[in-house]
Amino acid sequence: MLKEHFKLISGTANRKLADEVAKILKVPLTPVEIKRFHDGETYCRVLESVRGCDVYVIQPTSADANLNLMELLIMVDALKRSSPDKITAVIPYYGYCRQDKKTKPREPITAKLVANMIQVAGVDRVIMFDLHVAQVQGFFDIPSDNLDVIPLFADYIATKKQKDIVVVSPDAGGAARARSFGKVLNTPIAIVDKRRPEQNVAEVHNVIGNVKGKTAFIVDDIIDTAGSITEAANILLKFGAKEVYALATHGVLSDPAAERISKSPIKEAVVTNTINVPKEKMISKLKVISIAPLLAETIKRTHEGLPMGIVYEQMYKKLEKKLN
Ligand code: R5P
Repeated sequence: MLKEHFKLISGTANRKLADEVAKILKVPLTPVEIKRFHDGETYCRVLESVRGCDVYVIQPTSADANLNLMELLIMVDALKRSSPDKITAVIPYYGYCRQDKKTKPREPITAKLVANMIQVAGVDRVIMFDLHVAQVQGFFDIPSDNLDVIPLFADYIATKKQKDIVVVSPDAGGAARARSFGKVLNTPIAIVDKRRPEQNVAEVHNVIGNVKGKTAFIVDDIIDTAGSITEAANILLKFGAKEVYALATHGVLSDPAAERISKSPIKEAVVTNTINVPKEKMISKLKVISIAPLLAETIKRTHEGLPMGIVYEQMYKKLEKKLN
């Protein structure tokens, strides 16, 4: 049972996820009025008192990235001016994260800029999922949680009951993620040599590691245009993989992702609901795993000042039983 003075608020980016979390926590969502002015500006008013409360605002900054980010900042501003005890921004998908360093002169580092904006708005703590690179946590000078979904995805892979499997990173940047999966599942890993001649264009050149005769599970943080996973799937089959599945935490699914996945040799593409998948993108090959139970537990434990490590330990224990 959650203590008094606990408030859960949702923006408009993923109300479905917030509803699921509220249901698990058995708390109502605090009503909030969010409107757009004719010029595109956002208006927000929290419709009940939050004075002295521990407030959790759920809002992924997915497409429309600018609008959803501004909405989060404006909600936080409205809250901050209403005397809560603490504000936690729950950002299941942290947009702008892929611009985490300068790769050419005169580029921005938006992952840091957005972290600054969130802090200046008045957030005391952030909860996020599978940041594009974990070091972005360090862009915040407030406590931050970067939760991974490895146990959820590893459970999905275990359910497939394939004997000879290989976990594949679609690029060198994701090698650490693949290694973590490989360790949990006790499987080898492979890495696709992907290059980006320009933004949103994926070119694959080679596969490092043995995939011959194996069922390949590509693991990534994001499916955006699906160029990376579909190109990776093609080259994996060329290198002798038996079949290919793709799993990514965040289903950004910008066009033409749905079409690419449908036409690709990928057997099933799996994402979580950090971002709401609209009906028109819910193609038959796409499967969505809910993070709501894990997120609800995280919010509850944060509110109660309890550690999270034990939750992961329990998930891994359950998984181990399934794998043996
Ligand atoms: C890139 O480094 C990320 O980890 C993803 O691989 C990338 O964002 C996916 O983009 P797309 O689906 O457009 O290839």
